[in-house]
Amino acid sequence: MKIIEARNYEDMSKKAASFIIEKVNGSSAPVLGLATGGTPLGTYRFLREDHLNNQTSYQHVYTVNLDEYVGLSPDDDNSYTFYMKKELFGHIDIPASHTHLPDGMAADLQGECRRYESLIERLGGVDLQLLGLGMNGHIGFNEPGTPFSSETHVVELTDSTRKANARYFDSLSSVPAQALTMGIATIMRSKQILLLVSGKKKAGILAKLLSEQPNEDIPASVLNMHQDVVIIADSDALSIVKERSMAF
Ligand code: GLP
Repeated sequence: MKIIEARNYEDMSKKAASFIIEKVNGSSAPVLGLATGGTPLGTYRFLREDHLNNQTSYQHVYTVNLDEYVGLSPDDDNSYTFYMKKELFGHIDIPASHTHLPDGMAADLQGECRRYESLIERLGGVDLQLLGLGMNGHIGFNEPGTPFSSETHVVELTDSTRKANARYFDSLSSVPAQALTMGIATIMRSKQILLLVSGKKKAGILAKLLSEQPNEDIPASVLNMHQDVVIIADSDALSIVKERSMAF
């Protein structure tokens, strides 16, 4: 596991964007696993700016997103499909047919999970998976207790995750109760993982994931078993780790 310290959120976002751009420019058909949430917003902003200023092309890039809410249509502004269009896809030259998210409106959700797994396989697997970190250690929507062997599945969102995400919705009751998410095993099959962590409020969970043996109570702790994980975290997020001088 490699840890890169960033000065602050902007610096973390810039470093993450450079990391992704290098992958985009360095491969003939890279498959990027993308994440949503507040953390990658700055990264996507830098990718948009870079596309505008340096014409980095995404015509050869394929993407698969980690997760999607159940029951939100693609044009619902709280769906992750909408988020990805608004924050990234709508501003770069990636063909729409190259971008993929689980379909939270599918009539057969279990079938949709299987379709998503085979899609990832057909694309040749994920080359670089971008991840944020939930306050309870979730990755994607894999809540504590999710088996490490899990593949794409339907998840009942915990109260804490629904509350954490309620800031984007009109009210807590409009936050969907379920989501579709890549499983832990799906995420672990990615060739490389880039975890972004920012802010004091994530310092505790970041310290925990770095100090604990992999266990299913902290989904992100599984990353300790992956061969190629890069963490870009800002000083606030690393504050507890540094206090205990665990990683430095
Ligand atoms: C959400 C997403 C995750 C994200 C996490 C952290 O629930 N499903 O993919 O990484 O929570 O969100 P944020 O980056 O807003 O802190």
